[in-house]
Order: sequence, then C-alpha cells, then structure tokens
Amino acid sequence: MRFTLPLLTAVSAGLSVLPSAFAFPHIQEQADKANTTLSARSLSEGIKLCPQLRARMEAAASNSASKLSKRDPDSVINPNAFKFDEAAQRIDVSGSHEWRAPQPGDIRGPCPGLNVLANHGYFPRNGVVKLETAIEVVEQVYGISPDLGGFLSAYATIFTGNVLDTEWSIGGPFTSSGLGGLTNLLAGEPGGINTHNVYEGDASVSRRDYYEPGANHDNVNVYLPYFQSVVDIAGDDRTRGKDVYTRDVLAKHRWERFQTSIAKNPNFFYSPFGGLVVTTAAHDFIVNFMANNTADEQGNNRIYLDEHNLFPFFSIKRDPKSGELIYTPGHERFPEDWYRRPLAAQFGLADVVTNLLKSGAEHTELLSVGGNTGSVNSFAGLNVGNLTGGLLNTAKLLDDPAALSCFLYQATVESLIPTQLRFLYKDLTGVLDLVDHFIGGPLKKLADTFPNCDRVKVDYSGADKFPGSKIQSGGKTGLLGALLGQKTRNVKQQQRRSA
Ligand code: HEM
Repeated sequence: MRFTLPLLTAVSAGLSVLPSAFAFPHIQEQADKANTTLSARSLSEGIKLCPQLRARMEAAASNSASKLSKRDPDSVINPNAFKFDEAAQRIDVSGSHEWRAPQPGDIRGPCPGLNVLANHGYFPRNGVVKLETAIEVVEQVYGISPDLGGFLSAYATIFTGNVLDTEWSIGGPFTSSGLGGLTNLLAGEPGGINTHNVYEGDASVSRRDYYEPGANHDNVNVYLPYFQSVVDIAGDDRTRGKDVYTRDVLAKHRWERFQTSIAKNPNFFYSPFGGLVVTTAAHDFIVNFMANNTADEQGNNRIYLDEHNLFPFFSIKRDPKSGELIYTPGHERFPEDWYRRPLAAQFGLADVVTNLLKSGAEHTELLSVGGNTGSVNSFAGLNVGNLTGGLLNTAKLLDDPAALSCFLYQATVESLIPTQLRFLYKDLTGVLDLVDHFIGGPLKKLADTFPNCDRVKVDYSGADKFPGSKIQSGGKTGLLGALLGQKTRNVKQQQRRSA
C-alpha cells in the first residue's frame, strides 16, 4: 500500500496500486520494444555487489548445509544454548530508529516484519530498499542468516524490483532511485513484493487471498478474523512473559488457513515459491523472529512470544473495554523492550527446509503445488511424485531434509526461475549472476547433500488447470499462469547454444 493523506484511506489507496504490473504480455511487448544495446550494457555492468557480503553469504550457506540434519524444536541452532546478552540483543527504538507512521508516498506491504523495519527507520522509511542493505539489516535486527536474507532479498529484487539499482519495494510499484527508467524499458514497472503469485501468495497468515470473494483484491492488509483465529488457537492466553504463540499454535493455524482458502476461494492457488516456500515459512518467522528474548534462570537465552510482543508487530491492539482486536493499517512497530535472538543462533535456509518438513509431516498437502480448479473445495494438488515423474515422493521428502532441499531446488531454481527470467529479461548477463549467488547457490548447497540431485527434474505440465495461477488483475494472464503447464527451458543452456 502507498500511504496518502489522510492515513485512514490507506486501504482504498492500497487497492489502486495492487499488482497489475506483471501482467505478462504487456511486459513482453515492452521488452521487445526496448533498446537492447543499452540494456545489455547496463545489465552486465550495472550490478555491483560487495565481495565481503558475498563471501559471508557463501559461508552461511555451507554452514547451513552442514547442520541440515540436526535440529531442536524450532531452529537448527538452539538459541537456548547461548547466554542472553542484554546490550547486544536489544533493538534500539530511539533517535533515528524512533517509530514514525508512514508519510504520504511511503510504501508498506503484506509483510509485517518489513513494515516494522521501515517504520523504525532500519529500512528507508519510503519502503524502497537496496538488496544488500536488506540482507544486513535483517541479520542485525532479526538474526536472519545471510543465506536466507540473500535468498529473500534477491528474489524480491530480481522478480519484483529493479535489478539495475538492486532495489525493491516492501509493497507495491515504486520508482527506483537510480537507473529505474532502464528497468522500465526491460520489464515494466517493478511490482514490489505485493505481486501476486510471484512473491505474495494465498493462504497467508492474516491477509486474504487476492481472488477471495469479498476481498476486493486486498492481499496486503490484516483481515482481523484470520488474526483472531491465531489468538483463539492459542486459547486467548494473555499471560505476560509466557511462551503462548508457539510453533505448535502457528502450525495449527497454517493448516486452518490452507483449508479456509480451499473452502472460500475458487481460485486458491498454492504456488511453488509464494506458497510452498514463502507462506509456509511466514508462520515460522512469527515464532522465530517476532519472539522476544530474555535470560532464563541460568542466564541462558530464553525465547518466547506472548500477546504483548506479538500484537505490535501486526499493528494490533485490544480495545481496553471490550477486549476486541483493533487493527490500524501501517502502524506496525517493535514492542517495548524487545530483544532479538542471539546472532550465534541465526535462522537460515536450512531452518526453512526443516520447518517445511515438519509442516509436511503433519499435512502432506503442504508439500504439493496446486489449487482449486474453479470452484470451492475442489483442491487438486500435484504431489511430489507427479511433479518429479516418480523420482522423488512425499515419503522420501519427509524422511530426509536433503531430499526436500533437492526438491525445492529443482522445483524453483532449475524449473521455474529460468523460465520466469527468460520472460522478464532480454539480457540475462548480470541477472544470472544474482540468481547464482543469492538464490541458486545457497539452495544448491543444501540440495547437493542429496545424492544425484541433478537427476531429479520437476515438470509443471498440468498445473495450468488451476485458474488461480493464471488470472491477474484486469483479467489479464498472470506471469505464473503463462509459465506453468508449458515445458520449462533452461536459460543457461539456451544462452550457451545461441552464443
Ligand atoms: C528480506 C526479508 C523478507 C522478505 C523479502 C519477506 C517477504 C514477504 C512476503 C512477500 C510476504 C507475503 C507472503 C504471503 O502472501 O503470505 C511476507 C509475509 C510475511 N512475512 Fe515476510 N519477508 C521478509 C522478512 C520477514 C521477517 C523478518 C518477518 C518476521 C519478523 C516476516 C514475517 C512475515 C509474516 C508473519 C508474513 C505473513 C503476514 C500475514 O499474512 O499476516 N518476514 N513476507
């Protein structure tokens, strides 16, 4: 959402900028008209990234891969194994990090964790952030390992942002601060992470589905009944300092939301990246990143999430008289006296994989790609066996995080991303480097722990039967729908052939 005055009009303002930018044929038309000489030079020379950060990312990815099999209840590295360090873990909310409401023109979006960062000036307050800034900030403020921060931030840059300026928006379309015009020639206006089915997906924690009847395409603002159900599952326990919002509570809610979408949204679609990876991870992000940290009786780090700490992240308060929940769009903030997890217990890509495995063990549908077929309660999932031609199956994935990593790598980096890239960019020189370093590389390190992962191929033939994958706003064909169901092609091989 882009904020306008008065602030209370935020909801309707948000609707006017909801994603249409990635309507695929329009992008292709613009790309065809683009000045390719100019774009080729800009893309190969324009993407410059800090070598130290790259090195740290690679180290984090190797470290993650080596720890894939070990786990405590919520994360690969148990935060309780470290002493609580009050000074180092405290998040400053004074001076330049004082909370301020978004001003006219500022962008906020569907991710509460990112809206908080912009409201406290850890991200630029206008809601447009550089790829590398985002990686460093989410590490320092939330304890996200650079392999995961790089993965999330690079995906935002490449598919919803501006690769020339390596910038992206935490909500809808934006104007880039540097060479933005050139990107516009190549791929249309960057859509921001709101872009439905490219990043934002269905069955989110508290946001409604883009095509959910009655939602008016609002996939950005909290829908209170969905948030209320998290509170209800937790037993509406308001005890201060108690670990109420546990992984168990959020896992139950994840499954409940999945089923609500099946029951309410004829066009529900559970996409390979936005669904399988992002929306499932979002539930775990609540438990691991919004939780407060303190000292237990031995002085070790105790991580817990109570109502007092959870609500400000979602910009929710209780009415003091009725106890009812009240939501104010865009007012997400850090709780008072909030401490992040220890940096020695960072949460990275391996954690996303192992948590997904746990969710899949509870409900195998969460490991599929699929959706409703045009009416409610018609969910048809393409399971792992269908997608990999039998080379992998759900049981194997549930038995082995290495197999799941391999599947995720093949389902996103090898099968879908190359085709997405080919549709968005004429010149891939610099973009492929970004993909390799930030998305493909870290996930491949995990995938390579599975023997012969290269032999596994994911084929999305048949996924075009899900209407939710296709339609974009205004009835145009959405990006994902244009890609799924046709044979994906390997961009690198294509490039080598044409060179
Ligand atoms: C670079 C880092 C990040 C990126 C690119 C990112 C991106 C996103 C996107 C695209 C969504 C929408 C997904 C959907 O449709 O459900 C989302 C949702 C969400 N994110 Fe993030 N995120 C990041 C970091 C974080 C952090 C640090 C937290 C926690 C502090 C967080 C918590 C959440 C939650 C809880 C949701 C679901 C919101 C809801 O439906 O109510 N994210 N994020």
